[in-house]
Amino acid sequence: MKHLIDPMDLSKQETDQIIALAQDIIGNREKYQDIMAHKKLATLFYEPSTRTRLSFTAAMMELGGNVLGFSDAKNSSVSKGETVQDTVRVVGCFADIIAMRHHIEGAQQYASEVCKVPIINAGDGSHSHPTQTLTDLLTITRELGHIDGITIGFCGDLKFGRTVHSLIKALSRYKDINVILIAPDELKLPDYIKQDVCDRLGIKYREVRTMEEVMPELDVLYMTRVQQERFLDMDEFDRVKDSFVLDAKKMALAKPKMAVLHPLPRVNEILTEVDDDPRAAYFRQVENGKFVRMALITKLLEWKDDPSHANADAAPAIDPSVTGELAGLRCTNPKCICNNEHAPNRFVRTASGTLRCKYCDSKIK
Ligand code: NCD
Repeated sequence: MKHLIDPMDLSKQETDQIIALAQDIIGNREKYQDIMAHKKLATLFYEPSTRTRLSFTAAMMELGGNVLGFSDAKNSSVSKGETVQDTVRVVGCFADIIAMRHHIEGAQQYASEVCKVPIINAGDGSHSHPTQTLTDLLTITRELGHIDGITIGFCGDLKFGRTVHSLIKALSRYKDINVILIAPDELKLPDYIKQDVCDRLGIKYREVRTMEEVMPELDVLYMTRVQQERFLDMDEFDRVKDSFVLDAKKMALAKPKMAVLHPLPRVNEILTEVDDDPRAAYFRQVENGKFVRMALITKLLEWKDDPSHANADAAPAIDPSVTGELAGLRCTNPKCICNNEHAPNRFVRTASGTLRCKYCDSKIK
């Protein structure tokens, strides 16, 4: 079965095929308007969303298909205590494909282990957001004409921003990517992305303190919202919430062809005075999100039973309950599915030798 849980579930070739199909859909809308007739997409959203849920819905409708699901888990059997596993087993009897968002990290990975239809991760906690990544890759391609060789600045909440984590992973597949990280100390990129993605896969990165010092070198500026809902300490949120604000003055320092991306929603981090700047690509990015999801749904349903496209496990999962030396070790992330739903503890040994949780990537100590 083909699922999209993590951006690395797609090979570079598969990613390129999805981006190319999205481009073709943009140029030939009518050609695709009935290709999903009689097919159903279920959108299971356990966490708020505007763009992601509605763009999945619009995508399936534009392909001639139908959509069912919930946007508030309180209105489903989840409020009676139903587990993620049972819910997707049930919904898999009604829909051909499922897009799911959950505040618990690894929920979609766990769901994909029991579901008989493809699962698309539409965001799990602060962990991953692979369909936003496809949107971002399409947007960079359309704005700049290429992805190889870009210098991209990520600004804001790099700790909890799942779109950042997923995009950096995906960029590791491209040539000569230069990443600049602009974040307050409290919101720096997690170590697992720095070590297991940047260091191991050869992405050059550096951390800086101000936007001004790097604006002139950027091809892409990726702004993010400080993720209030992920903070355990609200005083800390108040201290960092307005750390970086993009305004017309800072835009004046940038290259004439730089593209400003933002997964949206924005709060204060981009002033509205920037919106009319031709380099502000964030609303075009939203529209690209619909087209790339049309391409993704089409390709996943085409690939779902083809063993040559099945999700390749980067490393075999280790079950600590049957592995003598690791018995007793547990994932300690309270937001991980394995600490919320009696999901088993399963670890993966990364190429650098570190033991990580299979569901949320946190380090097992
Ligand atoms: C992002 C998300 O949900 O992670 N939004 C989106 O999907 N376009 C970013 C955010 O919420 O800040």
